[in-house]
Amino acid sequence: MKNVLIVSSSLRGGSNSEILAFEAEKGAIDAGNNVEFLSLKGKDIKFCIGCLACQKTGKCVQKDDMAEMIAKVQNADVLIFATPIYYYEMSGQLKTFLDRCNPLYGQDNKFKDVYLITSSYDDAKNASDIAANGLGGWIACFEQSRLAGVLAGGGLNEPKDATANEDLLQKAYELGKNV
Ligand SMILES: Cc1cc2nc3c(=O)[nH]c(=O)nc-3n(C[C@H](O)[C@H](O)[C@H](O)COP(=O)(O)O)c2cc1C
Repeated sequence: MKNVLIVSSSLRGGSNSEILAFEAEKGAIDAGNNVEFLSLKGKDIKFCIGCLACQKTGKCVQKDDMAEMIAKVQNADVLIFATPIYYYEMSGQLKTFLDRCNPLYGQDNKFKDVYLITSSYDDAKNASDIAANGLGGWIACFEQSRLAGVLAGGGLNEPKDATANEDLLQKAYELGKNV
């Protein structure tokens, strides 16, 4: 049994990436894991100001919802990040979340396998490559971790488009099942 943390970063109702993330959650639960689903909707997350105080104290100087969420990242064996594709990158809110995890840099973290779920209008094979690369940069800074899989949800634009895409729903479920 693994501790699986799913971080869903889209802020809109009927989010496609979130729908896929919910399927991954089902798969991970069915496989007997301990799963927590975290949506960034409504969360107070300030930008990283780059002071690097966290590298000395292990804590961020900012007072918002990140401290609680960083503790969840710290407790996870597996991370699944879900994001809409914005200008061929991950969402700004996910990038800010990753930046704000800087108190974990250089710490004894246990998360190993990191997955990415995306949704984009573009269904080209490479529509998520830049976002995956960006996440790869974060992962590279945590030696124990690796990018274990990417589910690129192409051809999804309007809210809830993902509900009609059986293939992607199944792939998301399988991703969760096999973490
Ligand atoms: C600011 C913005 C930028 C976007 N940029 C892209 C893009 O570069 N390529 C693309 O295929 N879709 C782009 N889209 C469309 C979204 O990726 C698409 O609607 C996706 O399904 C949204 O995911 P969500 O429902 O999880 O929020 C963009 C949408 C917004 C709002």
